[in-house]
Amino acid sequence: MGNPLNPARQTELQERARRHLWMHFSRLSAFDHQDIPVFTSGSGVRLTDSRGRTYLDGLSALFTVQVGHGRAVLAEAGRAQAAELAYYPVWSAAHPAAVDLADRLAGLAPGDLNRVFFTTGGSEAVESAWKLARAYFKAVGEPDRTKVVARDLAYHGTTMGALTVTGLPAIRDPYLPLVPSAVHVPNTNRYRPAFPPAVADDDEAFAAACAGAIEDAIVAEGPGTVACVFLEPLQNTGGCLPPPPGYFARVREICDRHGVLLVSDEVICGFGRLGAWFGADHYGFHPDMITFAKGVTSGYAPLGGVIARDFLAEPFLTGDVSFAHGITFGGHPVSCAVALANLAILAEEDLLGHVAAHSAGFRARLEGLRDIPLVGDVRGDGFFFALELLKDPEDPSVRFSPHERQSLVRGLLAPRLFEAGLICRADDRVDPVIQLAPVLLCGDPELDEIESILRTVLTEAQKALADSR
Ligand SMILES: Cc1ncc(COP(=O)(O)O)c(C=O)c1O
Repeated sequence: MGNPLNPARQTELQERARRHLWMHFSRLSAFDHQDIPVFTSGSGVRLTDSRGRTYLDGLSALFTVQVGHGRAVLAEAGRAQAAELAYYPVWSAAHPAAVDLADRLAGLAPGDLNRVFFTTGGSEAVESAWKLARAYFKAVGEPDRTKVVARDLAYHGTTMGALTVTGLPAIRDPYLPLVPSAVHVPNTNRYRPAFPPAVADDDEAFAAACAGAIEDAIVAEGPGTVACVFLEPLQNTGGCLPPPPGYFARVREICDRHGVLLVSDEVICGFGRLGAWFGADHYGFHPDMITFAKGVTSGYAPLGGVIARDFLAEPFLTGDVSFAHGITFGGHPVSCAVALANLAILAEEDLLGHVAAHSAGFRARLEGLRDIPLVGDVRGDGFFFALELLKDPEDPSVRFSPHERQSLVRGLLAPRLFEAGLICRADDRVDPVIQLAPVLLCGDPELDEIESILRTVLTEAQKALADSR
């Protein structure tokens, strides 16, 4: 237990949150008869709520807090920067923190990804990468290259451009029509593949089919009209979908063949989540741009951006041409100073090595839960895994209906996991999954705790499902 707020303050916060706070991606009615979780403090891998209850943070808040909560050194880095120079934009100007951070990121990013454009978060990073691709092609005399290719269900953000890249109908449909023009192709879900089983069961055939779908889309649209392909190294939505071996090498070849830019959206996968600075390093491919956010500051201040290869900046280095795009708080001094301190912690504490060393053990613990019939598939990488839940253990092709998966996730799993003290994501947007992306500090005791809570809650859910049939 941590320190609870006094009961009057708890009640008053609940009332005012209900009245005034529009929580993101929330069914506000869900809180008509239950409390809104109010978090008040964090330390290391744990969070404390207003009632004084502590939780193991198995989701790094929102795939963000890589180095853990309550790091005084990050708070101090932000304070010191605000005292020195709280704000000046990087619009036709610079400040030392932005210069140092751009230089540091260029050093960490693969090869010739040397030019950094800062934003305040991931959606703006995706918007900026797409805009840069369009501006670049206009500048080099290929103005028709405007379209993007991305994958089914992939989440790339919520602003209108980023939402266009996103492949999740449930969050796109309310806002149609979106920005012209994006095409979505099958993702790398091998458990529920878009290809026949003989293809999905074979590494090479599956990689060829998934990458081939990208090429087919480029050819169908007309290669001269496609600007870029957006891919996460390991796709989050759909439940941690890793690339089959050889996939990214093929995608790289396809992009080169058709003159299309490859963007690695590393908003989640960057900064240690997969045990490397970038997912592109982890899977051994060379993107033309990397989009980043979240873990770059571990959430101690908002920041995102695009790291671009040298050739993408070239048209803008001479003459009158400029990349006509900017955001007031992109590259905010406080955020850049915090990011530098955060990257120093990741390096000094070798958290990338820690993830690489503990990933197999994490996977093995989750695999061990497959004796519970409800657990169908375990997939992921690094400190980023998902369990897919099965309606019929005898036949994985039997799917939960939307109503069934909502009652499983919202009725039996999400509230129970929370009560049991584990923060993770139980997702019912497609086939139900539980997703885990713990703080990178988690070691064997915390990974054991995650396993044990999951075992208890999944076993109870299994029983409740059986009783209801
Ligand atoms: C891969 C990916 N891209 C982009 C975004 C959007 O980032 P933000 O929420 O910071 O706008 C997210 C957010 O989760 C993401 O996971």
